[in-house]
Amino acid sequence: MEKIKTGVQGLDEVLEGGILSTSSVLLAGVPGTGKTLFGMQYILQGALEGQPGLFISYEELESTIVKHAHNFGLDFTTHIKKGLITVVNQEISGKLISFRALLDLMQKRNIKRVFLDSITLFEYIIFDKKADFRKEVLEFTRALKKLGITLLATSEKKETDIDNIAYNPEDFLFEGLIHLTKIRKGASFERCLSVAKMRGQSHMMGIYPFTINEEGIIIYPKQIPFSLIEKDS
Ligand SMILES: Nc1ncnc2c1ncn2[C@@H]1O[C@H](COP(=O)(O)OP(=O)(O)OP(=O)(O)O)[C@@H](O)[C@H]1O
Ligand SMILES: [Mg+2]
Repeated sequence: MEKIKTGVQGLDEVLEGGILSTSSVLLAGVPGTGKTLFGMQYILQGALEGQPGLFISYEELESTIVKHAHNFGLDFTTHIKKGLITVVNQEISGKLISFRALLDLMQKRNIKRVFLDSITLFEYIIFDKKADFRKEVLEFTRALKKLGITLLATSEKKETDIDNIAYNPEDFLFEGLIHLTKIRKGASFERCLSVAKMRGQSHMMGIYPFTINEEGIIIYPKQIPFSLIEKDS
């Protein structure tokens, strides 16, 4: 099976080549861990390789997304003009776009990568019963797979303690699960990433430190988080 590059420096090494094409991956983390930025890098990587991408946001306006991406040197504007990036902003207060309409758009634009930010809000907005939520999410991920699309979606975690992660129902519905956390180190926090699962492929099993700077997210697969060395000893 073909693997696709994530666009996040250092992560393809952790994933031993990248994410399996047409799979569905959930990116889980507490607020401010870099989920949206991760998605921007993922969509831009596709555009750079000529794979049309769709960025679905329930949280930020298209203009804000483009501006934030620009701050990290990620040029969304040019790719939007070329039709390689499409941004859909779903206002929580506005009329909801149906799954059907999203799937039609994906087909029409020959989309290969989708970033959905975030699945937790889907739960609030569209579904009032947990059982329906699970069924709808599964149908959505399967429909995307059929269209040959690789899906990256975000979910919000409440817990930062890496030893006591509480799993949500959606964690089981996706083929891959990546955790972004912040571990306390003295009086500040250290950013860490771990891959909880990636069905059908092998990956590195460590907890890796990462940084966010003006170039975006950088993962350090050869390093151990300082915060954990101190904690374990
Ligand atoms: N230029 C920068 N240099 C260093 N860190 C930055 C820079 N810009 C943003 N950040 C960090 O990245 C974080 C934003 O990341 P992002 O918005 O992707 O997080 P998120 O997980 O999507 O958050 P939320 O759950 O609120 O949507 C900021 O909270 C900040 O800590
Ligand atoms: Mg976000």
